[in-house]
Amino acid sequence: MIEPIGSERAGQNVDSNEHMSTLAEQLEQIPFFPPAVQVIPRLLPLFGNDKSPTDELAEVVRVDSGLTADILRVCNSAAFGFQMRAQTIQDAALRLGMKEMYKITSKVIAEPILGAGVHQVPVDGVDLWHHSLATGSASAIIAEAMGTDMEIGFTIGLLHDIGKVRLVQTVGSDYREMIIAARGGAEPLHSMEAQKWGLDHAVIGGQLLKRWNFPENMRDAVLLHHSVMGTTPNLDFAAQVNLADYLAGAIGLPYDRLGPVHPPNPRALHLANMSVEDLHKLAPRVIEHFNREQAPFVERG
Ligand SMILES: [Fe+2]
Ligand SMILES: [Fe+2]
Repeated sequence: MIEPIGSERAGQNVDSNEHMSTLAEQLEQIPFFPPAVQVIPRLLPLFGNDKSPTDELAEVVRVDSGLTADILRVCNSAAFGFQMRAQTIQDAALRLGMKEMYKITSKVIAEPILGAGVHQVPVDGVDLWHHSLATGSASAIIAEAMGTDMEIGFTIGLLHDIGKVRLVQTVGSDYREMIIAARGGAEPLHSMEAQKWGLDHAVIGGQLLKRWNFPENMRDAVLLHHSVMGTTPNLDFAAQVNLADYLAGAIGLPYDRLGPVHPPNPRALHLANMSVEDLHKLAPRVIEHFNREQAPFVERG
């Protein structure tokens, strides 16, 4: 948890260098700068399932100070190991390639949204950012096993629980109590949400993606990631995310580390033609993928 600068040291004789290092440490902990609202309408349509990364992404990023800072930060992180530091988005695009830029930007877009849930209602054990990244990784690996696109798989997994952020923003303290209550019971959190509010975080997330003009397969994957039912041709995507959500928990990165990991939806297993044992065999590759995705966002020690 980030402390207010110097809050515990008021009145104490602390030299200015120490204050400086405290401030620097705190600034290092800022997750990412969110993109400006002005660029979002141009940014989101670039992330469709029928789109391939183009120079247009770099053009959008280029005009946004927050995204530019974020991309350069990742490009210059130890994980990439470039000798010279990139100073412009063109540099970063050349070094990373547009596909990597596409991936990083999708994570940066998601992070302020997803991270808000953790910051606004701190509940010990709840970690939406790592859970989302793990579900994205699991979804990519399952996509590969199902013969579908890994990048789309990653993005829908990353975004699957955004409805939880909306619940935190609107009914935060009630939701906090519900998260804690769900730890002791056999009933999953999403069922408790539906009983109390008439709709669960999957429906809320699906509605958000619809409003933001996300492609239908991404919207349906989020909307149906717990129920895995309906007449949509995109049900395979929902099944993929349901299994990825379970697998993220199985490798130790559930939404709530102090809550139970519920089994995957049987309809999802049927649609993917997989057993729980088949899923567990993918775990080492999911962990490897997760570590690779996380590396650029981990600060140098
Ligand atoms: Fe969920
Ligand atoms: Fe989840």
